[in-house]
Amino acid sequence: MSVYNGKSRVIPIANHKGGSGKTTTCSNLGAALAREGRKVLLIDFDTQSNLTLALLTRLQKNRPTIRELMAEQNTFSQVVQEYNDKLHVLPSSYSLTDIEKAIRNNHAKLPDLKKHNVFFYLRIVLEKINEAYDYVLIDCSPSTESFLLKNALAACTEIFIATEAEVFSLKGATVMEDLVRSEIYPINTSARVSGVVITRHTPNLILPNAMVSQIHKRFTGRVFRTTIRNSIKIKEAQTLGLSIFDHKPYSSAGQDYTELASEVIQMEDHTAKEIS
Ligand SMILES: Nc1ncnc2c1ncn2[C@@H]1O[C@H](COP(=O)(O)OP(=O)(O)O)[C@@H](O)[C@H]1O
Ligand SMILES: [Mg+2]
Repeated sequence: MSVYNGKSRVIPIANHKGGSGKTTTCSNLGAALAREGRKVLLIDFDTQSNLTLALLTRLQKNRPTIRELMAEQNTFSQVVQEYNDKLHVLPSSYSLTDIEKAIRNNHAKLPDLKKHNVFFYLRIVLEKINEAYDYVLIDCSPSTESFLLKNALAACTEIFIATEAEVFSLKGATVMEDLVRSEIYPINTSARVSGVVITRHTPNLILPNAMVSQIHKRFTGRVFRTTIRNSIKIKEAQTLGLSIFDHKPYSSAGQDYTELASEVIQMEDHTAKEIS
C-alpha cells in the first residue's frame, strides 16, 4: 500500500444530475477509506442534508452545523462530529440555504473583478483544518447554479463524479465537467475530474453495459474499474442511518466500496507528487 504524504485530498463528489449516487458514494467511500486507516472528514454541503441523515444514528442531533461554521458562529471543533474514530462529519441542515443566499447576495453586490471572491469561503474554512485529514470528501448539490457547489469546487484538489450508467446521468457528468473547465479551473488549477464512479449498476443488462462504454469513451482513463452494483443493502443502511460497513459489510455494496477505496488509495502516490 502506498504511503500517503499527509496532505489532504479535498474531493467534492459532483454531478449535475440528482439521484446519481453522490451522497451514497460520499458516505460509503469515506467509511471505506477510514477502514483502511485514512483520516476522513465528510462535509455535508447540500441543503438536502441527505449525508447527515444517512449517518445520523452515530451523530448527535440539535448540534451546530456547517452553516454555523460558515457563518463563524461556531468553531470547527464545536461543529465537527465523530461517526467513528477515523471518520468525522460536518453535518448540515436545511438552514444551510442561509449561506447559499448570503453568498448569492454578496456576489450580486460585488464589482465584476471581485466576483470570484465569493467562491472561496469554504476554502478559507478548510485551510485552517484540512491538514488534519487525509481525505476531505464533500457531498454537493446537483445544481450548477449553486454557490455552495462552486465553493466546494474552488476548494478542491481534484473532483470525483458519481454517475449511473444511464444517459441523463452521463449528460449531468458532462455538464459538470464543462462548468469546472469554464468557471472553476481559472480560479483553481487543481480543479479537474480525476475519477468517475459508476453507481447503482446492474452488470447483467445490455443497456447499462453499453452506457458504461459510453462513459469510458467520454472520460477516458478516469473511470474507476470498480462499479458500485445496485444493492438493497444500501437503502437499508441509509434507512438505519449507518454506513454499509455498520450494517452489512460483506454485502456486494460493502465489497464494491472497499474496492473503490483501494483504487482511490492507489492514486495517492500520483496525487502526492502533484500537490507537493
Ligand atoms: N448502489 C446502490 N444500490 C441501490 N440504491 C442506491 C445505490 N446507490 C444509491 N442508491 C439509492 O439511489 C438514490 C439516490 O442516491 P443518492 O446517493 O442520494 O444520490 P444523489 O446524492 O446523487 O442525489 C437513493 O435513494 C439511494 O438510496
Ligand atoms: Mg445527495
